[in-house]
Amino acid sequence: MNETKVIVITIDGPAASGKGSLAKKLAEMLDYDFLDTGALYRRVALKVIENNVNADEIDKIITISKDLSQNLHEKYDDSALRNDKVGEMASKVAQISDVRTNLDDFQRNFAKNVTKGAVLDGRDIGTVICPDADIKLFVTASVEKRAMRRHKELQSRGIEAKYSSVLAEMQERDERDSTRLNEHLKPSHDCHVIDTSDMTPNQVMDAALEIIGPFLH
Ligand code: CDP
Ligand code: CDP
Repeated sequence: MNETKVIVITIDGPAASGKGSLAKKLAEMLDYDFLDTGALYRRVALKVIENNVNADEIDKIITISKDLSQNLHEKYDDSALRNDKVGEMASKVAQISDVRTNLDDFQRNFAKNVTKGAVLDGRDIGTVICPDADIKLFVTASVEKRAMRRHKELQSRGIEAKYSSVLAEMQERDERDSTRLNEHLKPSHDCHVIDTSDMTPNQVMDAALEIIGPFLH
């Protein structure tokens, strides 16, 4: 019998590069499973904030991530994760290597246990979580463009914010994300880079499909 090969697509990249929306659209189009790995770090961050734990209370944060790692299959309220306070705390908890380790198994098992295919987006998916993935994309854009997108998103949610502060925050987050203890948070040598600075989401989708197309048959 001719078994169809399971395809794993990883999409890494910095904040607001467009990786999340691309990952979701691709998964929908291909009828693949989808995992937003940033949401896992955000879930740890939300619990840290709810428990009034500070970013420097490393042991408490590790315990929170360990406890949560047992319950990651449970449903959660995604909208509670989508604010900048949670995003900022997520990028802090993600610097703790034990936190990363505690979230690793869930992500690896997710990619292993799919029937048709999977799309996972994050920062270290093509390097650490799924180094053998079939297709690795690295989606990026200039920090100014990414800050503009984030600023627009905030405005559309009725949140007042100055572009200059959003840009400063984005630069700070980039710095934290790239000077991580873990060198794997950089693009891998075998990834396809898509610079979305001057592309619409539809153009990004077309560019991704052009890369992915040959692997699908
Ligand atoms: O959408 P955005 O890139 O702003 O954030 P996210 O993907 O939800 O991730 C939130 C934070 O979690 C990021 O700033 C990273 O520091 C961290 N993260 C990570 O370290 N590794 C991942 N695989 C995913 C997210
Ligand atoms: O997941 P990540 O933080 O990398 O980005 P996203 O949530 O997919 O996109 C961040 C914002 O940028 C969303 O509002 C997208 O609609 C927008 N975007 C855009 O304007 N142009 C693109 N080429 C990609 C995303």
